[in-house]
Amino acid sequence: MSRRQSDTALEVKTPVDVLLAEHALHRRMLAVFERIVRVVEGGAAFPSNDVASVLGYLREFVELVHQRRESRTIYPLVMELADDRIAEEVGQLLADHDQTQELLQSLWLFWEPGPLRSDEVAVFVRFAKAYIERLRRHMVVEELSLFPAVLVVDDQRRAEIAAELERKEPGLTDLASWSSVVAELEERWIA
Ligand SMILES: [Fe+2]
Repeated sequence: MSRRQSDTALEVKTPVDVLLAEHALHRRMLAVFERIVRVVEGGAAFPSNDVASVLGYLREFVELVHQRRESRTIYPLVMELADDRIAEEVGQLLADHDQTQELLQSLWLFWEPGPLRSDEVAVFVRFAKAYIERLRRHMVVEELSLFPAVLVVDDQRRAEIAAELERKEPGLTDLASWSSVVAELEERWIA
């Protein structure tokens, strides 16, 4: 066995590790977004480029990569394994995905390449705070109720699901590239 193969064999990654790493990056981006919202609410100029980066991340990495794979892979697995209470929570989590998508569409409607009027700022801030609160709560519920249920599957299935979760989505940016975007925004906003 080559060194590379043996390293891969030793690396036991569970689906939950993959999802938690993504949640950690979501939380860092939400912290940046929260800081931007606070500054805009305080009357500063609308930082349209940075807001576009945040909204792009939420659209592409949270919705099109992370939530889509959860809906396709993790939620059905949990429904298969779990009791009625957890099944009900899955229904709520799917509804959360729809609600955050709607909030994000509204945020994009208010995005402008230049300054916003004060009434636009007020609505943007309201939608942004609702989005941040909703996604944070959603991740906590997933981590406390859903992810433990995933860990009961056997090693082979666990490895298959982890591989599916780590599969690159064609045409979409992956975790490593988004990490650089988040780090750059943190340097400007979370000093
Ligand atoms: Fe999630």
